[in-house]
Amino acid sequence: MILLVLALNIAVAVLAWLLWRERRELRRLRDWAAQPRLADPPEGEGVWGEVFDHLHRHRRAGLRRRRRLAELIVRQRRAAQALPYGVAVLDAGLRLDWCNRAAAAHLGLDPDKDRGQPIANFVREPAFVQYLETRDFSQPVRVARGGERIFALQLVPFGQAEYLLLSQDVTGAERLETMRRDFVANVSHELRTPLTVLIGFLETIRDLKLDADRVRDYVGLMAPQAERMKRLVEDLLTLSALEHAPPPPADERVAVRPLLERLRAEAESLSRGQHRISLAIDGAHDLAGAESEIASAFANLVTNAVRYTPEGGEVRLSWRSGDWGAEFAVEDTGIGIAPEHLPRLTERFYRVDRGRSRETGGTGLGLAIVKHALARHNATLAIESTPGKGSRFAARFPASRLLAAATATPRPAATSSPAGR
Ligand SMILES: Nc1ncnc2c1ncn2[C@@H]1O[C@H](COP(=O)(O)OP(=O)(O)OP(=O)(O)O)[C@@H](O)[C@H]1O
Ligand SMILES: [Mg+2]
Repeated sequence: MILLVLALNIAVAVLAWLLWRERRELRRLRDWAAQPRLADPPEGEGVWGEVFDHLHRHRRAGLRRRRRLAELIVRQRRAAQALPYGVAVLDAGLRLDWCNRAAAAHLGLDPDKDRGQPIANFVREPAFVQYLETRDFSQPVRVARGGERIFALQLVPFGQAEYLLLSQDVTGAERLETMRRDFVANVSHELRTPLTVLIGFLETIRDLKLDADRVRDYVGLMAPQAERMKRLVEDLLTLSALEHAPPPPADERVAVRPLLERLRAEAESLSRGQHRISLAIDGAHDLAGAESEIASAFANLVTNAVRYTPEGGEVRLSWRSGDWGAEFAVEDTGIGIAPEHLPRLTERFYRVDRGRSRETGGTGLGLAIVKHALARHNATLAIESTPGKGSRFAARFPASRLLAAATATPRPAATSSPAGR
């Protein structure tokens, strides 16, 4: 009997302890679950240990998932930031939700402060307002902002009535397109003038009964027009060839002295004795590059000097070279150029005096060819000029383009030819 009572007491004590332990684990679970930020579940005993282990595993997996998601979002944002295009997310009411740095810069947005504001508050240009009104977003719209930059903007619907607003700075492409249009217009204009003259003469010869001498006179007047068209086409082909040719060789020698002597002879034949023409060479270097390009660039500078210098004037050609590099300069005592024209002189078809340039057979492409050919040889063109006094055009080459002359001429050499003889 005593034994039975003892056993019962022990059983009650064990039950009470078990109950107490269950309540304790349950309380731990409750306390753990009640935390605002869940820490790892507590250590548990028995089945509770298993429950806590499972919870622990779920929680770890949940944490991992959350971290992966957070990383994914950060990566997506970084990728969107790195895009060279502007990207803005707009809600169904076309209000700003988020934008990357490029979009902020393009559209003048502050991603934090402007959140929730209608995009039309920031891009007020009529072209964009109309784009939003017509609701046809199949093509981008071009919007000029701030008077100097042009952007292509496009809305792309996504998700549930949300929109991506993509922006791209197309100022450079627009400028190229304008240049291309101007170029085509210029070429057409330059060709039309001689063509009109030619057609006029041809009609006259066809419609009027002219004697052989008159016909010969007319043909004589037609020839320079045809010649001008031919020169124009040749210059255009030269420019196009320069644009597409591989870089000039870095090890092919352009013998400078014979080239300059040839140019001086050509200048004298063009001048027909009307100018004093001199050549001075100081330095023992040749150039490395494409001879035809260098020759054509130098020849243009020389013929310009002769053509834009009145009778009795002087044209001086000089070549100086040293460790610092080299300079080919053409100086004249001609009509000179007003300062406002200097920055535009190397543009295609740019002529200070169209009439005069045409008279002397110019196409206005010469200096564009010079600049291009020099740039391909890492050289620059420096122009100084005073109206009424004369000009100095200098092609400057870096030392990397120089080769020690094969037949060195250490002493300066100067030759000149007197005018009119
Ligand atoms: N040495 C110079 N003195 C005065 N003006 C010059 C001189 N060289 C060039 N210019 C001006 O610069 C303009 C552009 O020269 P460029 O050589 O490009 O064309 P061009 O001489 O008219 O024609 P071309 O294509 O036959 O050379 C000329 O029309 C002329 O007005
Ligand atoms: Mg010229």
